[in-house]
Amino acid sequence: TPVPVLTIDGPSGSGKGTISRLVAEQLGWRLLDSGALYRAVGYAAGMEGLDLSDAEAVTRCAQHVKIRFHAAPDGQDTRVLVNGHDATDELRTETAGAAASAIASIPTVRQALVDLQLGFRKAPGLVADGRDMGTVIFPDAAHKVFLTASAAERAKRRYKQLKEKGLSVTLSGLQREIEARDTRDASRAVAPLKPAEDAVLVDTTGMGIDAVVAKVLAVVQS
Ligand code: C5P
Repeated sequence: TPVPVLTIDGPSGSGKGTISRLVAEQLGWRLLDSGALYRAVGYAAGMEGLDLSDAEAVTRCAQHVKIRFHAAPDGQDTRVLVNGHDATDELRTETAGAAASAIASIPTVRQALVDLQLGFRKAPGLVADGRDMGTVIFPDAAHKVFLTASAAERAKRRYKQLKEKGLSVTLSGLQREIEARDTRDASRAVAPLKPAEDAVLVDTTGMGIDAVVAKVLAVVQS
């Protein structure tokens, strides 16, 4: 039997990252944070001084970049190494998110990251977090969830996260950026952000983390 996969797709700020991590911990499964891969490519391209709209150059970058995830001790965030440099903090910024979204619309960049993502599927199971996990990368996944929340709620969550990290942001600016990124992600020609036909939709507006985790675990156990 194939290694089981749970895909968790949805827009930025829907809580995917936190929920995916907690659900993977509960199940004892591996975790694929596919957004981090796109962020890493955008970051590496920026470091090389590439024009992010230069599809050929960015694709070459995506084909050669070395991305490694390093588990950190108890409760601390997994570190992301890009070409040997610990870029964890840089990758979290809205600038990195916008760069990721820009290079993610290049089909050959997406193609360059396919095998890397498929390689995360190892026993006993995989939780795959992203935009196209259930539609493109793991269409045969046994369990698929699509997480949403209102744009206002997502902006509020992001605001809190970034403030805690000591970054200076405004709520209104953040909501505008989130809406712009959603529109770009949902309207692009390749792998647009949309629920798989067989995904369970979970609207997390007003829900606490524990309740969402329970709901997602119920999908896996159903
Ligand atoms: O999830 P995260 O905010 O880290 O993703 C950053 C950007 O990477 C998204 O806005 C999206 O454009 C892109 N992305 C993607 N496909 C994925 C994951 C992320 O296009 N599977």
